[in-house]
Amino acid sequence: MAHSLLLFGVALVSAMTDAGAILTPAYKDPSAPVEVRVEDLLSRMTLGEKVLQLCQYSLGKDINVNNMGERLSRIPSGSGAVIYRGGDRELRNSVQRRMMEESRLGIPLVFGYDAIHGYLTTYQVPLGQACSWDTSLTARLCSAVAQELRDEGIEWTFSPMVDVCRDPRWGRIVEGYGEDPYVNSAFAAASVTGYQGPEAARGDYSRLQDGRGVAACIKHFVGYGASEAGRDYVYTEISDQGLWETWMPPFKAGLEAGAMSVMSAFNDISGIPASACSYTLTTVLRDKWGFDGVVVSDWGAVEQLCRQGYCSTLKDAAAAALCAGVDIDMQSSAYDSFLEQLVSEGRVGEQVIDEAVRRVLRLKFRLGLFEHPYLEPAARQDKGEEMKEACESMAAESSVLLKNDSALLPLRSCRRIAVIGPLADDGDALTGCWRAGADASMTQTILSAVRQEFDGRCKVGFVRGCDVEGNPDRGGISAAVRLSSRSDVVILCLGEGARWSGENASRQHPRLPEGQLRLLKALRRTGTPLALVLVGGRPLILSDVVDDADAILETWQPGTYGARSVAGIISGRINPSGRLAVTFPRSEGQIPIYYGRRSPARDAGAGLYKDGSSEPLFPFGYGLSYSMLEYSNLRVGKAGDGFEASVDVTNKGSLDAQEVMLWYIRDVVAGVTRPMYELKHFERLDVPAGETVTFSWSIDPGRDLSFVDRKGERHLESGDFVIYAGGPPATALCCPLTLP
Ligand code: BGC
Repeated sequence: MAHSLLLFGVALVSAMTDAGAILTPAYKDPSAPVEVRVEDLLSRMTLGEKVLQLCQYSLGKDINVNNMGERLSRIPSGSGAVIYRGGDRELRNSVQRRMMEESRLGIPLVFGYDAIHGYLTTYQVPLGQACSWDTSLTARLCSAVAQELRDEGIEWTFSPMVDVCRDPRWGRIVEGYGEDPYVNSAFAAASVTGYQGPEAARGDYSRLQDGRGVAACIKHFVGYGASEAGRDYVYTEISDQGLWETWMPPFKAGLEAGAMSVMSAFNDISGIPASACSYTLTTVLRDKWGFDGVVVSDWGAVEQLCRQGYCSTLKDAAAAALCAGVDIDMQSSAYDSFLEQLVSEGRVGEQVIDEAVRRVLRLKFRLGLFEHPYLEPAARQDKGEEMKEACESMAAESSVLLKNDSALLPLRSCRRIAVIGPLADDGDALTGCWRAGADASMTQTILSAVRQEFDGRCKVGFVRGCDVEGNPDRGGISAAVRLSSRSDVVILCLGEGARWSGENASRQHPRLPEGQLRLLKALRRTGTPLALVLVGGRPLILSDVVDDADAILETWQPGTYGARSVAGIISGRINPSGRLAVTFPRSEGQIPIYYGRRSPARDAGAGLYKDGSSEPLFPFGYGLSYSMLEYSNLRVGKAGDGFEASVDVTNKGSLDAQEVMLWYIRDVVAGVTRPMYELKHFERLDVPAGETVTFSWSIDPGRDLSFVDRKGERHLESGDFVIYAGGPPATALCCPLTLP
């Protein structure tokens, strides 16, 4: 309170001359500090005006089925925010004009949109990006997207999604960075830095004010990825230990990178819905972590508190969400309908509303919206070439070679290539879900890229065989078999359609459809060597596929320009280097399956499945290269207050390679039992043919050897540790370390 009075005093001073004549209000003075502007504006607002700042509507069309457009006239003047897909400069500016000119104080709207993996151009989906282990490339892509968004009049993006997920049935597994909290944390920080610029973490918002960055929104806070049985919008059972160890860390990392907003989730966490959970939204986010940005609810999450059986009326839901810490109500119309009434009835204190409004205004000042509310007809920054190159690099680094018997790939000597399958000539599937403003017809297909890659060298034939659902084309399988029989090699493109993953896209059997399998088996019988190229948004269960392909390349949904890199891996122009950031199960019965399990109570041999293997089909960290990379000489020594671990990698092959080194620890005995392997560091380096490169990791004990307890407190205990370096933990080199 003292703080606000002081700021208010400053505001008055800057608003009046010595003679007392009223000048421009302090909130309109760009040279005044943001907090002064916030307090000045807040002091001028009526309760009704404040409430409108806490409401988000939608504007224009949106391909997300949940997000139907709302008519312009239904957005009240003085509203806080809209979801706007872009593409209509006139519409955007006319709505903004209403806010600026028809509302008493002229507070600009903030326009937000989901750029999950690109905007005008899509690039590899986040799950795929994680398999590149290249956070700097993700940061570069996000920074280019930020510019595309700003050029479209969008200043806020509902990205990144950092929900750890260990269940391939859940469609939204595609939107996050896999099963590991550390990987999600690293990519959370990279994306936020890309969108907002690195300076934002230090409180310097100049890039955002210059129209070169967008505010990031880390979502969905918290635990949404624990959705029961892989279904969407359902209950999540989360222990206190799991909350702190698994679900929270990516959010903390995103906030440390300066994220300006957080989205509260749909899920009901152990009995308290995430959008009404004052423990996570206020005790942790505000009080413990000191977050001063905006919390926006997920779409309709306030209204859903009634459906979840937590509130009986929309009015109660408005009170519950606001008091728990949700500043902006996305699409429930709970705040605009009831907050004023709740204040007059004394059920919600006006200071709670003031606090939420402060955060919204702070975001708008930090974004420079008061100075630049309109989308000016300035020349667009053409990021086309830069984007194309970065998208191709991401597709190259994120594709994971899962199998390569008899070194079928790369194709060096064949003359006749058969490209077969429903995903071969399908740019839509490669574009993926959440495609924002991208035009899927611009996405290069794998067929077109293979033709381009082998142009003049090989004859490339094509038969689709069946559609993505597996329904055979007329004469499809026999035509495919004929083409296979007269070819030297088959490149078979199978997998999922674009919207088989993403929101509300759970699958009970995350496998290839029957018809696609039939096509594979028929081609196998021709005896022609077969490379399976997979497209899709989740780890598929491949146990009924793996023996029928000589090579398997997982490409995920590599986006507008990804196909060229897929073709480059097939030809050998690119040496594959991706590693799985998510485990591929053998069967549905193994789910949830992930590498970071605790040690079982009995020795190996006990507690296994009686009716099948207990091991995954492809473990976390797995990925082949065309080069033979040999690891040796893992050593750990004291260095300053910590330790230095190093390992040598020798490229015994004839192709230059890039290698991703994953560093894990095991804390052998601890006050809270620890996973058998915990990823703590990773690095991607060039390893030229014939050379040896040393990978190193500086171990900071407080950061890397400590663990968190169920209250979120960190502990560092002396004792024995094991350090691992490699790909999948079970095959990594290891070395002991003792912390005195
Ligand atoms: C999704 C969010 C998204 C929001 C706005 C919701 O349905 O769960 O992830 O940001 O819509 O599009």
